[in-house]
Amino acid sequence: MSCVKRTQIIAGNWKMYKTPREACEYLAQFVPQVVDHPEPVYLAVPAVSLLSAVEATKGTNVYIGAQNMHEAESGAFTGEISASMIADCGAHFVLLGHSERRHLYGEEDTLVNRKVRRALEAKLQPVVCIGETQEQRKANQTAEVLKHQLQGSLAELSAEQLSCCVIAYEPVWAIGTGQTATPEIAQETHSLIRSFLASHWGKDLAEKIVLQYGGSVKPDTASALMAQIDIDGLLVGGASLSVDSFVQIVHHTALISGN
Ligand code: PGA
Repeated sequence: MSCVKRTQIIAGNWKMYKTPREACEYLAQFVPQVVDHPEPVYLAVPAVSLLSAVEATKGTNVYIGAQNMHEAESGAFTGEISASMIADCGAHFVLLGHSERRHLYGEEDTLVNRKVRRALEAKLQPVVCIGETQEQRKANQTAEVLKHQLQGSLAELSAEQLSCCVIAYEPVWAIGTGQTATPEIAQETHSLIRSFLASHWGKDLAEKIVLQYGGSVKPDTASALMAQIDIDGLLVGGASLSVDSFVQIVHHTALISGN
């Protein structure tokens, strides 16, 4: 089978860590160490650091994104930020449907879907996160849960719209727990996700979509995960907070793509 070469995207997610000053210090060290990486590197930073992070990475292969956004274009939503505000900062992407948003803030697939559409309208790349809980995996519901999340979060997207999205598979049981999925489990699940995409949008398009794995990725687990045929990138939380470990992850995965 001949596969189209997909981009390889390593992404960091800082969550609610790092002040704007710390973000600048981090980027001043980080960017020079990854500028020679042949593929894009993404960093999802807190909203207050978007503008300065974009400035600090301008003209490089490091792309800045937000971790969430509101689904409306604008309005009386105190404390929220919109897709166009994120885009106006010069950001490239936005994480949507992260499990912390789903579980701590009750975000459901229909809301994630509205956010995906709004992000696309604002020319932001949605990184759509899905993943099953430990209980769901134990009850053999993984395939069903992921299918449901994909169906809901990506509902009615055209092929062109889907082709702009990245899908991040992050099993909830692996996030922040130190319990990374084995490369075999991750590959099996990624392949399931790609088959689902193929059944809805066709095989050609499904082969082009970048699928990331996330959940306790560390420098010593990154390469084996990236060597899997359907894993095109990583979404890294805790290990992206230290320049050294995130640089190691980026370097370890250079040109290892399994596809
Ligand atoms: P983790 O987080 O790498 O700390 O498990 C991943 C994520 O939540 O995106």
